[in-house]
Amino acid sequence: MSRKLSADADQLLAELQHLATLSDCAEPPPAVTRVVFSEADLRARAYLKGLYEEAGLAVRVDPIGNTFARWEGAEPAAGVVGSGSHTDAIPHSGMYDGTVGVLGALEAIRTLKRSGYCPRRSIELVMFTSEEPTRFGVGCTGSRAMTGRLTADQLTGLKDESGDNYDEVRQRAGFSGALQDVLLPEGYYHAFIELHIEQGPELEAAGLPIGVVTAIAAPSQLTLCVEGEGGHAGAVLMPVRRDALTAAAEVALAVERLARESVSPDLVATVGQLGVHPGAANSIPSRVTMSLDLRDIDLANRDAVLVRLREVAEAIACRRGVKLQVTVQNADPPSVADAGIVDAAEQACRDLGASHQRMISRAYHDSLFIGQVAPMGMLFIPCRGGVSHRPDEYASPEAMATGVEVLAATLAKLAEE
Ligand code: GLV
Ligand code: MN
Ligand code: MN
Repeated sequence: MSRKLSADADQLLAELQHLATLSDCAEPPPAVTRVVFSEADLRARAYLKGLYEEAGLAVRVDPIGNTFARWEGAEPAAGVVGSGSHTDAIPHSGMYDGTVGVLGALEAIRTLKRSGYCPRRSIELVMFTSEEPTRFGVGCTGSRAMTGRLTADQLTGLKDESGDNYDEVRQRAGFSGALQDVLLPEGYYHAFIELHIEQGPELEAAGLPIGVVTAIAAPSQLTLCVEGEGGHAGAVLMPVRRDALTAAAEVALAVERLARESVSPDLVATVGQLGVHPGAANSIPSRVTMSLDLRDIDLANRDAVLVRLREVAEAIACRRGVKLQVTVQNADPPSVADAGIVDAAEQACRDLGASHQRMISRAYHDSLFIGQVAPMGMLFIPCRGGVSHRPDEYASPEAMATGVEVLAATLAKLAEE
């Protein structure tokens, strides 16, 4: 495609900034919290729907709120070329994670429209419901359900902190219809490509505007529950204590040691949540729940570390006389990008004079699940200092504009296939 593609970075930035004001967070932007099916999430969805309609796209919302905005192609029955990401945001995070892939895809479509391009295949922007695991403990519920990785029963079995299940919460938020209908028909996507900030430091360090993703690392998430014995902080002497928190702390340190010793440099492990019961300064903790996030591009190594970690945690629990229960919330395989989409993205980079490198994604994305049923690719743009999941997350307007233009050119190539 030889047309001039010129993204409107000012409009994109203004829209991102407005979206950032739609937040559950008491702090002002750029700090953002947007939990799925919260009031802020619903306001954000309404704002985005208005933008999609202004751009002349036909909007469809599925029973759990996955939102599709379609630019009908000359051959509407042909497999769709999809692009999109998420707009939910973990507590106290930034304003670019996911949102750049939603508003960026919208700007890519507007850029193509302004250039006079008309697609053969339909191009569809998707906003996935709940990429983040914040509310229901499992990430990517929208794309898992769309691709059959979460059944209607499994979705209903997911509960939030108040004990409300996914089905009740989505209905209260105004999403109706049978959960079974979320599943996409086979062959729905001809190709899918997601634009995202890198969330790591490599592109910035290399001075490159674009990363073409070749694979997404395999994520897993576990919940560990340690039960010890509570008691009075003054009266129970040290030799007889069965403190659940000190046992959990030892497990957390063992997790860190195992990850540091891993043969794969890409294995990472994080304990990000700790719930201490009863949570009083003068009471020995009787129960601790702890999250564990463990990932690697090398699935066999990720799984071997998971097995080793359970053994070590059980040995710690046994020695300290506490009970340990381990629940695997999810343990997913990695996803490999489609060679044809990688080629199309690299050709788009060359056409636009944007230098790039191939790279893996250590963060997970909805593309991980789309990639299990359809040809998938991802484009990364640099973010300052590689910082993400923090309020000071930042991508420059220039970086976003280049990402949008490369995305637009790639979508145009894929839509002509
Ligand atoms: C996505 O937010 C991830 O945790 O990788
Ligand atoms: Mn995220
Ligand atoms: Mn994200």
